[in-house]
Amino acid sequence: MQTIAVLNPKGGTGKTTCAVNLAAALLTLSKKVLLIDLDPQAQLTRSLGLAADRNVRTVGDLLNTAASPVECIIHRDGLCVIPARPDLAAVEIALAGQKRNAANALASALGNGRLSYDFTLIDTPPSLGLLTVNALAAADRVLVPVNMEPMALPGVERALAAVEEYGQSANAALAVAGIIGASTGLSPSDSRTLTANSSSSRSSTTTSRSPRRRSTAGPSSSMPPILRAPRTSSPWPR
Ligand SMILES: Nc1ncnc2c1ncn2[C@@H]1O[C@H](COP(=O)(O)OP(=O)(O)OP(=O)(O)O)[C@@H](O)[C@H]1O
Ligand SMILES: [Mg+2]
Repeated sequence: MQTIAVLNPKGGTGKTTCAVNLAAALLTLSKKVLLIDLDPQAQLTRSLGLAADRNVRTVGDLLNTAASPVECIIHRDGLCVIPARPDLAAVEIALAGQKRNAANALASALGNGRLSYDFTLIDTPPSLGLLTVNALAAADRVLVPVNMEPMALPGVERALAAVEEYGQSANAALAVAGIIGASTGLSPSDSRTLTANSSSSRSSTTTSRSPRRRSTAGPSSSMPPILRAPRTSSPWPR
């Protein structure tokens, strides 16, 4: 079981898109995947066509211990999802008011890694606030999606610093799994330079999309394309 936080404090770097599509890709490899929407924007929840109305248990209920993970999981086309609602912002404020264990609320609620999934993917908000800190406490790996442009570097540096600091102070198992170039407005050589400069001593990976192009396959559509494609001729090993 591996828990991966998808994290970058800069907004709009492809965190949600990456989390959803990585989950879908792992699903096609027959992995059991739990997706957690830990962002009050609830874009991941909406992107999968899940309306987290008042009757649905959400990650907010999980954090304030009103529900168990099993009660909060929605099954959607093979994906297991713990959704979010915008009221997660209020839950974060309430959590911050608690002195003890506020940073470990998610890790404790998930049973400190005892759920029977191959991968748990956590989509985080564009900040290094308490929700993101909860993701760092629950995760053993962090994936950093990045726009391949110079203005993106501070976000990556803050993400790596947060992993370093939190790893040293509270979660020794934490490490960066990779930096994913999710979009580029630069020439290929500029993109390679940025990747090399920002990779630190860790691994980095680059995926690309056309410069300045916004895909319709992101959070606005309901299911990741990989789950809509025929699976008979998969190029991946199973
Ligand atoms: N590889 C990609 N190709 C095309 N469009 C993309 C790609 N990655 C992300 N996008 C688009 O970029 C926008 C931002 O993506 P996304 O919502 O995943 O970012 P985010 O980091 O989760 O944002 P936030 O910080 O607000 O949570 C969306 O419109 C999404 O569809
Ligand atoms: Mg997002």
